[in-house]
Amino acid sequence: MTTWRLRDLPIPARLGVTCLLVVIAGGLWASMAHLEDHHQNRDSKPGVSLDDLKGAYHGVRLAPPLESALLRNHPPELPDPERKILLKWITSKSPNELYDEPVLGAEAPAEILALRCVSCHGRKSTDESKIGEKLPLEFWDDVKKVVFPTVIDPVPTPILVASAHAHLLALATLSIGMLALLWATRFGATLKSWLTLGLCLGLLADFAAQWLARGSVEYVFVMIAAGGAYVVISGVILLIAALELWVPSSAR
Ligand code: HEC
Repeated sequence: MTTWRLRDLPIPARLGVTCLLVVIAGGLWASMAHLEDHHQNRDSKPGVSLDDLKGAYHGVRLAPPLESALLRNHPPELPDPERKILLKWITSKSPNELYDEPVLGAEAPAEILALRCVSCHGRKSTDESKIGEKLPLEFWDDVKKVVFPTVIDPVPTPILVASAHAHLLALATLSIGMLALLWATRFGATLKSWLTLGLCLGLLADFAAQWLARGSVEYVFVMIAAGGAYVVISGVILLIAALELWVPSSAR
């Protein structure tokens, strides 16, 4: 069987294909950077977190910071009945109205916060943690930042369809191109077969998981693993193609 290889190309053509490899590598890098940019701020924390991705593909509700703080027994000195009052308050329908409701007297959340929290969470607090500067809890304007949950809605279906129509066809075409390069190298058929399966399965699983994640959030992990595998295997294929182009092969 005659096997044609990339190495058989004349030097200008090999240079040309090398340019293409660089372009594909650049494209993969740009896609990753875009992914970061596109998803990072859903949970209003920097960087792409799992919550950002769960939010985009499934939707999440992040507990209000105040709720998580109280539930993890912060501050430990807070008496249980007051902790219960605060927890009940933030899960109520209108925390804003009940915040300093006069009828509640000493049980008004504003009173409890003033008594139990402002010693540290006050702008003039002398607590060494300096938490009062970062997270003051003196006025409703401070408190309202930590009493509401963050709700991230999943990307609307029409947008996911628009994204799929562009990405599926582009990435499938790219994959065909990369596989053509891969199979025109001197490397063993076993390696090339597994890389082929990995690349194609990764792509299929990534896109399938994007849809399935709408129903159950576990698929977000499949999506991340499959997408990651696709990028890594693409990198390996590009490397193999570059080796084929520029490393002389001794025996044929
Ligand atoms: C002894 C000082 C002190 C007191 C009293 C205190 N805190 Fe804090 N609080 C801290 C410090 C320090 C942090 C930052 C480190 C941490 O998260 O544990 C913090 C963090 C927090 C956070 C942010 C947690 C997060 O996950 O982002 C919230 C919300 C909070 N406190 C609410 C309260 C409330 C409500 C009270 C009163 C019922 C209170 N704290 C009383 C020192 C205090």
